[in-house]
Amino acid sequence: MAEKKAKNDRSLRFYNEVLGLERLHYGLWNPEDEFSITGVKKAQKRYEQHLIDQIPAGSKSILDVGCGTGIMSRNLIDMGYDVEGLSPDINQKEIFTQQNRTRFHFCRFEDFEPDNQYDCVIMSESAQYIPVNMLFRVAGKAIKENKYLLVCDYFLSNSASGPLAKSGHNLDQFMAEAGKRGFKIIYDEDITDKVVRTLDLGKNIADRILLAINIGTEKIRQKYAFLTRFILWMFRKKINSVQEDMRLLDSEEFKKNKIYKLMLFQLNAVDNRG
Ligand SMILES: C[S@@+](CC[C@H](N)C(=O)[O-])C[C@H]1O[C@@H](n2cnc3c(N)ncnc32)[C@H](O)[C@@H]1O
Repeated sequence: MAEKKAKNDRSLRFYNEVLGLERLHYGLWNPEDEFSITGVKKAQKRYEQHLIDQIPAGSKSILDVGCGTGIMSRNLIDMGYDVEGLSPDINQKEIFTQQNRTRFHFCRFEDFEPDNQYDCVIMSESAQYIPVNMLFRVAGKAIKENKYLLVCDYFLSNSASGPLAKSGHNLDQFMAEAGKRGFKIIYDEDITDKVVRTLDLGKNIADRILLAINIGTEKIRQKYAFLTRFILWMFRKKINSVQEDMRLLDSEEFKKNKIYKLMLFQLNAVDNRG
């Protein structure tokens, strides 16, 4: 894979290496879940299981697109599926290949040239990274006729604006492209209300980290007030971007701009493979 296309996603590394999360997606929360890292791990496991439950009966071969650490792939292999993983991220390649003996495709999905066709292609929070037209074009080549594409991700509403509108596909455009390429929706679930607690927890952790930095630097800031003002001015762009990032963790803002969906598509036609 061309070096410049290889990714090293630091925010995903933060979730994995600092917070100790094996799964890199939102969680599906129940009201009684503990509001903590333990709680989010449980909710993420429930999310993964819910996704696996939607794999149509009779499926055998699976491509896990944007497979992250490979934990879902490992669970699917243990359940008897033939699984291959795909990710353009160099760290995930290492983790995945250490844990799984199965085939791994080190590339972006939009560059993937399948030499195999699968019963089910799964995109667990990875569809948002792939340009919509390429997603359905490549999926059309990778999926057997009448077989399935399972997508779980957030999408933008038509009125989305501001920092939250920077990630995610527009839902209407996504569905239009699916239809154009012969993908028919056969299961559609809105899980927004069940996933947003993941953001509330992320915000709570970020607030506590910022508070700790504030307390830790209090003496220095008092002693060197002028220098502090100068440093804050020097790093004003970075500080603004941190403030913007904090808005990304606001669950009410999320609900105003986005919808989190679990969708199963069936590829009906073969005349869409151009
Ligand atoms: C939010 S993580 C989800 C990881 C995993 N599927 C999970 O549910 O825990 C997004 C994944 O998509 C991968 N990704 C990013 N850009 C991609 C692309 N263009 N094609 C395929 N995967 C991509 C990332 O490397 C990462 O594995």
